[in-house]
Amino acid sequence: MTPKLHDGEFQDRVVAVSGAAIGFGRAIARSFAAAGALVYATDIQVQALAETARGARIVTQVADLTDRRACAEWIHTIERDSGRAIDVLVNNAGGMLGQRHKPVEEVSDADWDAIFALNVDASFATVRAAAPQMKAAGRGRIINISSGAAFRPSRTRIQAYASAKHAVLGLTRQLAVELGPYGITVNTVAPGLVLTEIEKQKDWDALGAERQKSLLQGIALGRLGEAQDIADATLFFASSRAKFITGQMLPVNGGSF
Ligand SMILES: NC(=O)c1ccc[n+]([C@@H]2O[C@H](COP(=O)([O-])OP(=O)(O)OC[C@H]3O[C@@H](n4cnc5c(N)ncnc54)[C@H](O)[C@@H]3O)[C@@H](O)[C@H]2O)c1
Repeated sequence: MTPKLHDGEFQDRVVAVSGAAIGFGRAIARSFAAAGALVYATDIQVQALAETARGARIVTQVADLTDRRACAEWIHTIERDSGRAIDVLVNNAGGMLGQRHKPVEEVSDADWDAIFALNVDASFATVRAAAPQMKAAGRGRIINISSGAAFRPSRTRIQAYASAKHAVLGLTRQLAVELGPYGITVNTVAPGLVLTEIEKQKDWDALGAERQKSLLQGIALGRLGEAQDIADATLFFASSRAKFITGQMLPVNGGSF
């Protein structure tokens, strides 16, 4: 029988996944758990997070990651509970927080700040908290989930979202240089469009058949992505196969140019 790609590789590894209640975070958390890891998952959505953990080796903690102290507390709780440094940290919590495009002169400070707080500041705060133990251990994998909006304008036309995801790429590269000497890699997965939640599905339905067809024609593989596609790329960056890869962005978008 052909062994599964990551068979045994993550056995008892301590893996932290943010934004794990739905979508990519759920698929990432469950994939690591299925590969034997001890997964720590966080989110603000209480029930959906519990659903992620059902029947799997996943420890949940509800936290609002727009509070940097909460980010640090989550990391330190994992270190205390597991008794070791985090092996893999996945900064997945993010998104547009229900915002829609507005002309730039109408964007409020609060809207701008909220998107940066979740998409950029939370990743900075979790890494800042996890770095000392990872450095002492001489190993670690950090994977930040960015977006196609990390390297080109966002289809959403939300200024803060594109800026924040570009910042995630910058943070990834800078941390890779700083943490590389300690055996820690830092990479980013840049997903294309995946209909992970109801609002995204509604937006997709609202496009109508013609527009949907033309968007799909712009994707080489002719389909939208699935959460598992993003989880697979994340596990790759965390695996030994990616041991000489750091500071890199992997677009996972079916070939969308
Ligand atoms: N789905 C897509 O098409 C797509 C495309 C590119 C990038 N992304 C990125 O992928 C990541 C995951 O996206 P998704 O589509 O799976 O879900 P999503 O964007 O709807 O939400 C991600 C998760 O973050 C959680 N979250 C929101 N606010 C939080 C807070 N204050 N504290 C803690 N958790 C909070 C949500 O509850 C949710 O579980 C995000 O960073 C998103 O920007 C998504």
